Amino acid sequence: MTPERQSAGQLKVTTRSLKRMKQEGRKIAVLTAYDYPTARIMDRAGIDCILVGDSAATVVSGHKTTLPITMDEMLFLTRNVSRAVERALIVGDMPFLSFQPSEEEAIRNAGRFLKEGGAQAVKLEGGSEIAPLILRLVDFGIPVMGHIGLTPQSLNKFGGYLVMGKTARQREYLLQSARALQDAGCFAIVLEAVVPDVAREITESVRIPTIGIGAGVHCDGQVLVISDMIGLFEEFRPKFVRAYANVADVIRKAVGDYIDDVRAGRFPGDEESY
Ligand code: KIV
Repeated sequence: MTPERQSAGQLKVTTRSLKRMKQEGRKIAVLTAYDYPTARIMDRAGIDCILVGDSAATVVSGHKTTLPITMDEMLFLTRNVSRAVERALIVGDMPFLSFQPSEEEAIRNAGRFLKEGGAQAVKLEGGSEIAPLILRLVDFGIPVMGHIGLTPQSLNKFGGYLVMGKTARQREYLLQSARALQDAGCFAIVLEAVVPDVAREITESVRIPTIGIGAGVHCDGQVLVISDMIGLFEEFRPKFVRAYANVADVIRKAVGDYIDDVRAGRFPGDEESY
């Protein structure tokens, strides 16, 4: 990792660092975060980039889809994360209807992630059709991460969470969109649930890093939702998730032990009393 040196002597990962990592063939590790303690641990552990994902709608707030989360809720989560992070690049995820209604609204909302949230970039779901908007955001100094393939905000359009790139038409759309997002100034592109051959083709055809989630090993980096990879969110686990821990079991046991101790009069002990 070659993060940029900032004025306070602080090493900070920037959009440029990520592009350099691709050029040097070094893989990029990205995770989502939504709260201060988790973001702090991740940052100290050396994660390159933290996405404050609108996946918070499901894994934090218990909604069935990502559609209901609002700008104000996303900003609250982004502030939690940015207070904790010194090194990783922070990307705020633009929620459904925060950028679609008009260019003006998109610029204002994207800017809020930087101005009020403390993020250094935003992510927008969509392909070549949003390239003109991305060009404007980048022009105004707002770095953009693209997101193509399975785009959960378009769930109702596609009629489900579908793997993308299986047909020639989808492959062509994905390749054309990746190039359009690069030309519009995106510094990286998330490829979600894209068949590995097409993800590889995209990765080889653009200069900016691709960050895969369910898109195989050939992407320039990988992203996972933290609640999935630590085994905290138990309701659904996509095939592409590797569970690196089982935090739900740890919490269950701790809570069970606490309940038993309280009921048996074993907590608090003398050492926990004043
Ligand atoms: O919202 C999110 O967490 C995301 C990632 C899954 C890429 O968009």
